[in-house]
Amino acid sequence: MTGVFFDPPRSDETWRNMIYEGGIIILSPMPEMLAVVDHTRRMIEDAFAPLDPQRAHETLPVERCVEILSVLKPTYIHHPRTKELIQRALKAFGCSPEKTYQDVPRLRCAFPKDYLTTGIAYAHHPHRDTWYSAPMCQFNWWAPIYEFVAENGMAFHPRYWNCGVKNGSGDFNYYRWNAESRKNAAQHIGRDTRVQPHAEEPLELEPEMRFVVPPGGVIVFSGAQLHSTVPNITNQVRWSIDFRTVNLDDVVNKRGAPNRDSASTGTSLRDFLRIADFALVSEDIVAAYDDGIPAGGVAVFKPEMTNTLAS
Ligand SMILES: [Fe+2]
Repeated sequence: MTGVFFDPPRSDETWRNMIYEGGIIILSPMPEMLAVVDHTRRMIEDAFAPLDPQRAHETLPVERCVEILSVLKPTYIHHPRTKELIQRALKAFGCSPEKTYQDVPRLRCAFPKDYLTTGIAYAHHPHRDTWYSAPMCQFNWWAPIYEFVAENGMAFHPRYWNCGVKNGSGDFNYYRWNAESRKNAAQHIGRDTRVQPHAEEPLELEPEMRFVVPPGGVIVFSGAQLHSTVPNITNQVRWSIDFRTVNLDDVVNKRGAPNRDSASTGTSLRDFLRIADFALVSEDIVAAYDDGIPAGGVAVFKPEMTNTLAS
């Protein structure tokens, strides 16, 4: 872990070095992200009306809440305006529109514990995204939609930046996950039986780092950082979005964070679209990351296959 950088000067190249060396970048609110927040709030609030989405759990039966999320999440994720607003924000952050590829943002909600922490509102155990077949050059961008506090945010476990963890990523194949697990997320109320890569040894999670940023702010980190959802001990729902980017030169050159312990197969690279024109990563580039699609596997998750998405 090389440090935490607050509003560093916009430099695509420098930021990539920071992130690949384990740095975390904290960005103050800016107009382009505030536009993302506004759009996201409007969709959440329409879906939960007349309830306050941060307090919906106080009166809403959990099954009804899952129904609402099962429509809201995919609608938000695949809404054309969502994609365009993220595109604008990434350009404003100085990412090269020609070299940077974005994926669709996920909408997350962390409910007060004991309400809903599985399936469509999965509370993420300590993990690296690279255990889930993300490329080592992946940037994660995490942004709150309402004010939140350290007791319902996310945590980083920096001890593991330089050190591997015994984990189950060797059993994780992205194409199998696309085919099977994600379409079932809404069914997992109470208990989550989906096979996900976990640490397979006791972890030293302290010291951990939690950052609190206002709506419109962003926390940027490597997909190789060990991170987790903080158990929500407040009485408010935490709403956030996160999206990912990769730089094509780094994809081609296999430059990125060091791989300490990720052994997943398949690749999420087909999910990324070039900022400039939403073009896909070409298949000859993806091929260097591909180890074949297992029987029954699906290379790209299609929203029409289901109405939910939880990973
Ligand atoms: Fe993650």
